[in-house]
Amino acid sequence: MSNLVKLSLKKLKSQNILNPELDLRILLNNSKKKNNELFLSTLNEEEINKIKFEKYLSRRLGHEPISKILNKKNFWKYEFYVNYNVLDPRPETEFIIEESLYYIKNRKKHLNILDIGTGSGCLSVSLAKEFLNSKILAIDISQKAILVAKKNILKHGCNNQIEAKVLSFSKVYGSFDLIVSNPPYLSTKEYLSTHHDIKKFEPKIALFGGFDGLTFYKAYAKKLPNIMKKNAFLILEIGEKQASNCIKIFNNSGLKLIKKSKDLQKKDRILVFSKI
Ligand SMILES: C[S@@+](CC[C@H](N)C(=O)[O-])C[C@H]1O[C@@H](n2cnc3c(N)ncnc32)[C@H](O)[C@@H]1O
Repeated sequence: MSNLVKLSLKKLKSQNILNPELDLRILLNNSKKKNNELFLSTLNEEEINKIKFEKYLSRRLGHEPISKILNKKNFWKYEFYVNYNVLDPRPETEFIIEESLYYIKNRKKHLNILDIGTGSGCLSVSLAKEFLNSKILAIDISQKAILVAKKNILKHGCNNQIEAKVLSFSKVYGSFDLIVSNPPYLSTKEYLSTHHDIKKFEPKIALFGGFDGLTFYKAYAKKLPNIMKKNAFLILEIGEKQASNCIKIFNNSGLKLIKKSKDLQKKDRILVFSKI
């Protein structure tokens, strides 16, 4: 094993980085001069751009996530540009796409979709690719997040399907077949006890959902039924302990709960409603 690999692993381990070997391999492969795959055991140091690598390594040693260092994160079938202004797309949010595909079988349908709190635009782009005749309004209250979403919409060639706008959901009018949202849902207590690396590198506006974490769901229950067509779907991500409170919030809203599903950790994560 090369000295560079040995030394870098030692440094990463001393900073309690969770998967030092994996992270090092990713950083090396993103610092390579040519297009061949690099392995820790056989690395020839000449194959990497050392200045670039050292910069990446020192950022990782400062606990910055790989996604923010490399400005990329995979979601569904695509790679998205990310930065400090957006939440990194997470695997549990992919269940929103899965449920959309389950409930709307006709992929050619002309759907009017609303994505509230689009962030990186990961849900909008993925839905646009699955439902090629859909029109999507992707909104976010953060101007900086919308810039990222627009970059991803362009990157994936979806600008004829998706309109990205700085707008709060409370100001949306229209009539939608599908509304998706992964709103900020951490309570004050949860936010305060969230790992400091997450608080440092992810925007608070994407995480904090008010004192009890339920602010968005309460407002959604009042607002969203008014902008949904009959039989339209609302597919929401929720915090792992929020299912029963959220279901209560949507009682008498004019929406009917049709599914509660779990993520890969078997935690309640997605609620699907339909407009009565
Ligand atoms: C948890 S992030 C979700 C990002 C992305 N949809 C995802 O799933 O990875 C929540 C997003 O909601 C946005 N947001 C917060 N308040 C909002 C509001 N009133 N109206 C619209 N978006 C809002 C935040 O800026 C943030 O980008």
